[in-house]
Amino acid sequence: MNLVTANSESIQHAAQIIKSGGLVAFPTETVYGLGADGLNPIAVAKIFEAKKRPTFNPLILHIAEKNWFTKLASSIDENVELLIEKFMPGPLTLVLPKKDIVPDIVTSGNSTVAIRMPNHLVALELIKEAGTPIAAPSANKFGHLSPTEAIHVQKYLGSKVDLIIDGGKCSVGIESTIIQYEEGNFYLLRHGGISKEDLEKITGKFSNKKLDADKPNSPGQLPFHYSPNTPLKFYDESLLDESKNIGALFFREKTDNFNYKIERVLSPSGNLREAAANLFLILHEFETLDLDLILVEKIEQSGLGSAIMDRLTKAVNKHY
Ligand code: TXA
Ligand code: MG
Repeated sequence: MNLVTANSESIQHAAQIIKSGGLVAFPTETVYGLGADGLNPIAVAKIFEAKKRPTFNPLILHIAEKNWFTKLASSIDENVELLIEKFMPGPLTLVLPKKDIVPDIVTSGNSTVAIRMPNHLVALELIKEAGTPIAAPSANKFGHLSPTEAIHVQKYLGSKVDLIIDGGKCSVGIESTIIQYEEGNFYLLRHGGISKEDLEKITGKFSNKKLDADKPNSPGQLPFHYSPNTPLKFYDESLLDESKNIGALFFREKTDNFNYKIERVLSPSGNLREAAANLFLILHEFETLDLDLILVEKIEQSGLGSAIMDRLTKAVNKHY
């Protein structure tokens, strides 16, 4: 059993594993990460192996102290500093021009590096103890649901990691928002735990980036991702079929009288934060139930609703 409760002893142990080139799954406020020493290319390669992830997809470096920004990235001007001050630690990732110290395997050969400071005491202590930035994608197999509890990691990657630190349920429950800063402009690469609207109050309107579908540099640019093993579709009455085991996920409340195998509500009060925190948790639960189909109610695409709809749309696309 390689799952341990988070405490100072287990975090010390985990930090030793990181320093010696091993893999540790750890909690953050967004989702669980699959971590390795971000400055050790061989250790980072193990992440790609464990996840079965295409190597074109670069990784985020997680830091615990803001002075790492200037060690890892160049051109941190005042616009970027403002964002760091206001939103870090927190569910925001900044993509910036990289310095040479960052290995190519972390950035997939890109000249930029993604950096984030998680707002989670266990993650911060682990990174500090390890004394190195920790490269970590979400601790799921490539393309599948992201883990928001330690048991999700154990179920899908248990045999592939040296240690899983259990720090309870992730409070945000959806990945960080990723933005890129390039020559004075900000670009949104992935919706996530901080809303576009809140970020734009500081950055001004994001610029539009021309996407290169053949070389995606953020999962927001892949056509599918974040999918449960069960087919998932947006709710439509025409899909209701008594002969099938259907699971339904509503936003505030059940809106029909159909006899579902299971039904859940993301947030009875209509709170998007609560909905985001419950999204992957409920989809993991549905995935264990041998359903024929999962139906999900569409929600409004504003605030965190954009991040939720982004994840759901990609899951729907997977099952075309
Ligand atoms: O909340 C999160 O961001 C979680 C937790 C563990 O921190 N991490 C996470 O990592 O979601 P991952 O690898 O599943 O998604 C991060 C994405 C990558 O897929 C990649 O496309 C994008 O960040 N990314 C990383 N480095 C990049 C870069 N240099 N340029 C553009 N996109 C980058
Ligand atoms: Mg991921």
